[in-house]
Amino acid sequence: MQLLNIDRRIQRWIYFAALIFGASLLVLFLQHRSSFQPSVTIPKQIEIALTGEPIQAIPQEIAINLPKVTLGEKLFQDVRLSTNNQKSCLSCHSFSLGGADGRSHSIGINGIPTEVNTPTVFNARFNFRLNWNGKYTNLSDHLDALMSNPKVMGVQWPAAIRSLEQVPEYRQLFDRVYPDGLTPTNIKDALVAYELSLNTPNARFDRFLLGDKQALTAAEIEGYRLFKANGCISCHQGVNVGGNMFQPFGIMSDYFAARGRMTPADLGRFNVTKNEADRHLFRVPSLRNVALTAPYFHDGSAKTLEEAIATMTKYQLGRTLPTEQIASIAKFLRTLTGEYRGKPL
Ligand code: HEC
Ligand code: HEC
Repeated sequence: MQLLNIDRRIQRWIYFAALIFGASLLVLFLQHRSSFQPSVTIPKQIEIALTGEPIQAIPQEIAINLPKVTLGEKLFQDVRLSTNNQKSCLSCHSFSLGGADGRSHSIGINGIPTEVNTPTVFNARFNFRLNWNGKYTNLSDHLDALMSNPKVMGVQWPAAIRSLEQVPEYRQLFDRVYPDGLTPTNIKDALVAYELSLNTPNARFDRFLLGDKQALTAAEIEGYRLFKANGCISCHQGVNVGGNMFQPFGIMSDYFAARGRMTPADLGRFNVTKNEADRHLFRVPSLRNVALTAPYFHDGSAKTLEEAIATMTKYQLGRTLPTEQIASIAKFLRTLTGEYRGKPL
């Protein structure tokens, strides 16, 4: 009798412990669910597969918030966001021209040319800083500045909101995505979500990195070898083949003296920090899709890829390479053209 009682007590304890355990699991699960928001991922959360090479492939799948991206895409193409409906983002960042516009300097609001060459919008999320002088550390601050810049968009918010409100589709889309609907903050949020989605994976070089040895020809592999052997890789590396450090333009000899006609933009990072050591320092640009984004350099001075490579060799490495080697490196760089939404750029 006594024994049976003890047995029952143990049984009750086991029940009780199991109940507590189950309840804690449930609490943990619910907590996890409430902290999980299907929002746009930030760069740090993206997993980049290591390849054993100094360049990594762009991930194939990057989580996006589809309703925001759809809205951002519409806004990206809409001139209502600029002074007197003159420009959209797409005017300078055309998708048929690799996310840039093929000009040495773009034409901004009221015909004023931009101070620097327009870089591509593609893969911007993988750059550690934005713009040639690296002034901005994130797309949100960058967008804020370019929207208010009278030379780029020069947006007048009250007028822009009024004209967007006249498009019923915008009102519906905004109401669906944001509790407070159509506001300047939400416009910027949707645009940033879209910018984060503009990635171009699946370049032939990426396929090669991920193990498909047939993806490149022998000549292209030789170009990659030369790119590494000549030291281009010490600056152009990582997932964006650039975009992860500042370097002076003209390390081995004075590029600016040779070119002449110095402009304020030529001071590069110095314009941001006013630090003497930052004179002519630039963010090393990404070489992804570089075959499509001529002309090159912050001043748009190099018309062809071969010319840009020769300039780099001379001023960054203090060498002259034979024409065949320059052509070979260009062959490698052309394998960095990726796909946007599954289609080659
Ligand atoms: C008049 C042409 C023009 C228009 C319009 C324009 N941009 Fe740009 N964009 C530029 C130029 C020029 C730069 C480089 C500025 C610099 O480095 O100082 C740039 C830089 C950028 C960059 C940084 C890329 C990088 O990796 O450094 C992003 C992202 C970008 N623009 C997005 C946009 C978006 C979004 C819009 C629309 C809201 C837009 N741009 C409208 C010319 C333009
Ligand atoms: C010491 C660092 C460094 C080395 C080494 C280097 N680059 Fe660059 N590269 C830069 C910087 C900085 C820029 C931007 C210059 C500017 O326009 O202000 C640049 C720009 C470029 C551009 C133009 C990209 C664009 O979108 O305008 C190409 C192409 C390029 N480099 C290729 C090469 C090649 C090929 C090599 C090797 C032969 C090389 N680079 C070596 C730092 C470097």
